[in-house]
Amino acid sequence: MSKASQTIAVGVIGAGGMGGRHARNLHEKIAGAKVVAVMDADGARAQQVAAECDDAQVFTDAHQLIETATVDAVLIASPDRTHAGFVLECLRQQKQVLCEKPLAVTAADAQQIIAAELKLGRKFVQVGFMRHYDPQHVGVKRAIETGKIGRPVLFKGWHRNIAPDPNTTSAEIVTGSTIHDLDSARWLLGEEIEEVYVRGANTNPALGKDVWDLQIVQLTMSGGSLATIEVYVNATYGYEVGVEVVGTQGTALTGFTAPALIRNQLALTQTIEEDWLQRFDLAYITELQQWINSIQHGGQPTGPNTWDGYTSLLAAEACIESIRSGQPQRLEAQARPAFY
Ligand SMILES: NC(=O)c1ccc[n+]([C@@H]2O[C@H](COP(=O)([O-])OP(=O)(O)OC[C@H]3O[C@@H](n4cnc5c(N)ncnc54)[C@H](O)[C@@H]3O)[C@@H](O)[C@H]2O)c1
Repeated sequence: MSKASQTIAVGVIGAGGMGGRHARNLHEKIAGAKVVAVMDADGARAQQVAAECDDAQVFTDAHQLIETATVDAVLIASPDRTHAGFVLECLRQQKQVLCEKPLAVTAADAQQIIAAELKLGRKFVQVGFMRHYDPQHVGVKRAIETGKIGRPVLFKGWHRNIAPDPNTTSAEIVTGSTIHDLDSARWLLGEEIEEVYVRGANTNPALGKDVWDLQIVQLTMSGGSLATIEVYVNATYGYEVGVEVVGTQGTALTGFTAPALIRNQLALTQTIEEDWLQRFDLAYITELQQWINSIQHGGQPTGPNTWDGYTSLLAAEACIESIRSGQPQRLEAQARPAFY
């Protein structure tokens, strides 16, 4: 880290939809950060994003990027299957890392990251659960923390995508989409997930009739609260994510986020975002700025951590098992290390 300017030199791994957005945000919008390196399996994509970031250095090998002395911190936005290996390499190099969700593909892989971080005795890993930085979600969290709705007893979450990946599976919908909602339930209720039960339906036969593109997840939480999550990846009309937390003295609900109400032709209309890049535009920027600030000011991230990445994966695996068995699935009780 260059002490004089305190600018954090960031290397970006994966320069697709998410990585490209993060790199551009770091370059254009984040104070105290500079994109110095970009790596993507698609060299042309890496070149393009690097060129947009003041000609950052292009790497063809992610491990080389992580090892490079001029890289202070690493942002991982490559495909899910690559995350755990790259995060472990960052830990070996003792570099701060913001890893897109999911932290790993299996909870067992995430456990290895916990073990490595515990050994270092210092937090190095933040997971890209960006809803923690979305003003709507933060408003709900604040209402709970300040006692405005009494004791929270029920979380209701909904998550709709315009269209699924044509090759998706029920399990991939859980690890790719539902994992955000599992994390939201834990975060907003402040409780761990004890039991999951998934029901589902196929609304788009082109996906294959075994693929549940509509999933309803019921959760029992460790403090006795309940949760329901609707994930519909084939909603066609737009991208929407929302939560309501019901408490013993009121409820807190995320509102609509599009900026304007339009009145014309005998109608009152409001646009709906197309995807997560639009809906969570501000959250991604705030997430990055707070990550950079935390590295500058204390050297440890303050956002969603390895434990959050691990327990959300445990719950995701239980959901996948529930889909397979058709039965509710209990999670093995986990003791959160004091470190987290
Ligand atoms: N937090 C969020 O809201 C959010 C939203 C979308 C995606 N994501 C996550 O971000 C990650 C990237 O998703 P995306 O939508 O940008 O996908 P994408 O397909 O648009 O981009 C992935 C990029 O990784 C590159 N790549 C493939 N293999 C690689 C490797 N071994 N090493 C380095 N690069 C490699 C690809 O060439 C591609 O450019 C995923 O883990 C996904 O789950 C998070």
